[in-house]
Amino acid sequence: MGKVHVLDHPLIQHKLTYIRDKNTGTKEFRELVDEVAMLMAFEITRNLPLQENTVQTPVMEAQTKVLAGKKIGLIPILRAGLGMVDGMLNLIPAARVGHVGLYRDPETLKPVEYYIKLPKDIEERELIVIDPMLATGGSANETIHSLKKRGAKQIRLMCLVAAPEGVEVIKEDHPDVDIYLGALDEKLDEHGYIVPGLGDAGDRLFGTK
Ligand code: PRP
Ligand code: URA
Repeated sequence: MGKVHVLDHPLIQHKLTYIRDKNTGTKEFRELVDEVAMLMAFEITRNLPLQENTVQTPVMEAQTKVLAGKKIGLIPILRAGLGMVDGMLNLIPAARVGHVGLYRDPETLKPVEYYIKLPKDIEERELIVIDPMLATGGSANETIHSLKKRGAKQIRLMCLVAAPEGVEVIKEDHPDVDIYLGALDEKLDEHGYIVPGLGDAGDRLFGTK
C-alpha cells in the first residue's frame, strides 16, 4: 500500500498558513507556492541513492558522493501544478518536465484531459506528479493512469493540501504510489472543495477570479 507522508517541516507549515489566508494576493501566493514546492522537493529527495565519487580539491583527492540511480521527471497537472515547477527545478535542475492538462468539470467533478506531452523516456524515470490540490482525487488518479498506460513504472504524488477522500482514491487505485503532502485537511464540501483548504488554487495562482 502506498504511504502517505505529511511533510511537517516548520517552514512548510509556516508558509502554508499564508497560502491558505484569503487575504494573500496573487503575487505573494505565487511566491509562497514556489517556496513551499522547493522545500517539499528538498524533503522528498532526502532518500535519493548516492554513489561513491572522487574529486580533486585544491588540497588533495577527496572521496565524495554524487547522485546515482534513476533520472527524475516532474509532471505538473495544468494549470495549478505549474505553480510548483520552478521551485522544484531550483533543487533538481536536471529533471525533465512533462505536462498533463486536465480540468475538473464543475458539474460532474470528473477530470477532462485536454493535453499531454511527456519526456520520451518516462519508463526510465522516477516521476513526481505535482498539483497543489488533491480533492476528489479524480485529476491525480487520471494522470497516474495516463502515465502508467504510457509506460511509467515509478511514480510519486506531491500536493500542498489534500482531502482524505482524494488520498483514499489514490491508495485504492495506485497502491504503488507514495503521496507527499503539506497538509491533510478535514473533508470536501458539497462542491468538491477542500475544507478548510485554500480555495481555487489555479485562480489564486493566476489571478483569474
Ligand atoms: C484543480 C487542482 C487539481 C484538481 C483537484 O484543478 O489544481 O488539478 O482541481 O481536484 P480533484 O482532486 O477533485 O480532481 P482545476 O480542475 O480547477 O483546473 P485548473 O488547475 O486549470 O484551475
Ligand atoms: N481544486 C482547487 O483548486 N481547490 C479545491 O479545494 C479543490 C479542487
